[in-house]
Amino acid sequence: MTHQPYTRRRQHLLTTLADGVAIIPTAPERIRNRDAHYPYRFDSYFWYLSGFPEPDAVIVLVGGTNPREILFCREKNEERETWDGFRYGPETACHAFGFSEAHPIASLEQMLPDLLANRRSLWHSLGHDADWDQRIAQALNTVRSRNRDGTRAPGEIRDLRGVLDHMRLSKDDHEIDIMRHAADIASAGHACAMRACRPGMAEYELEAELAYEFRRRGADGHAYTPIVAGGANACILHYVDNNKLLAAHSLVLIDAGCEVGGYASDITRTFPVSGRFNPVQREVYEIVLAAQQAAIAAVRPGASFTDYHQAALRVLSQGLIDLKVITGSVDGALESEAYKPWYMHRTGHWLGLDVHDVGDYRTGSADDDWVRLAPGMALTVEPGLYFRPGAQVPKALHGVAVRIEDDVFVSADGCTVYTSAPRTIAEIEEVMRHD
Ligand code: GLY
Ligand code: MN
Ligand code: MN
Repeated sequence: MTHQPYTRRRQHLLTTLADGVAIIPTAPERIRNRDAHYPYRFDSYFWYLSGFPEPDAVIVLVGGTNPREILFCREKNEERETWDGFRYGPETACHAFGFSEAHPIASLEQMLPDLLANRRSLWHSLGHDADWDQRIAQALNTVRSRNRDGTRAPGEIRDLRGVLDHMRLSKDDHEIDIMRHAADIASAGHACAMRACRPGMAEYELEAELAYEFRRRGADGHAYTPIVAGGANACILHYVDNNKLLAAHSLVLIDAGCEVGGYASDITRTFPVSGRFNPVQREVYEIVLAAQQAAIAAVRPGASFTDYHQAALRVLSQGLIDLKVITGSVDGALESEAYKPWYMHRTGHWLGLDVHDVGDYRTGSADDDWVRLAPGMALTVEPGLYFRPGAQVPKALHGVAVRIEDDVFVSADGCTVYTSAPRTIAEIEEVMRHD
């Protein structure tokens, strides 16, 4: 493992802190029920700055002329390691993760007031975790109580997330490599589900195909709860029951991505359970695919974050007119939002360590102040159309729901789509042929 990307990020952050101190704890372990834990997942900010996988760890960065990069972590413990597995311990962790010093986590409370003393500002994620807010308030009070010795407490409490979110919005080469890997595995998982699909199977059988392929190829697992929605279930945007049977005449929508090295991929594919699109399914699919292509063409440096959504809306609105779902002109539909009952979400989001990754979408509150795209940003492009059974649409559309979602990096002159699961009707029907 190389600690260089993480060291680089810490050093960049230190330049912003100036004479301040930043405190970045990782996530706690969480109980699921009685003494069973949820699988452990580190905090994304902590991971971004360290690559250190253990719970009970905190980074403290001290800025100024003698910067310090300090890791607090669990000590070695033969008995606990026998039960729960390897622990680095401060000494080994310090070298392996490129910190300037490391200490047992148990000494944090006692060391924190000294680390804060006479610093101008304290940076942390205010309000993220009530326990941490409390611990930090206590440490500040301890520093304030030394006021008569001439010790000053930081006068400024700053939210670290503004700085870190901005850094995380543009992916560095190390992140891009990992995200490509996550995308490759997720693409393979979707292709497996297509190949395995047969009428009468349960949605969870396709979920199992994805999970198997993700793990078989070394991903840590799903990046978020997967959606495997047959027919009209796909009209429920966050359907996660995944327990119904797949009817031969219906489509199935799968929204699933894996996590690799902390990074999410996020892919949606919609395909016919039978392996062949019927004419209505084909018509709707082609509209959504054309909307996705128009949106992808609108992702380029300098474009605003909303441009690609607008590009998708234009194609979807024309499609809804062609399908006789709405009447009037495209401009009229955009103005009145007539598309909204059938397309109610936005066309994408930032992607990274979190599936809905951090980073501002707007720089202020005016209509035209959406963030401008720049090379290195990663985002999803995921238009869809959803026709609920019983909706006021031609009957043949009832229960037809399609979303197509891919992941892209903004490049120097446009964008690179780096997910590769079968996407066109021809590609899907080819991979699903069972002869
Ligand atoms: N899987 C969540 C999303 O597509 O945004
Ligand atoms: Mn998404
Ligand atoms: Mn998704």
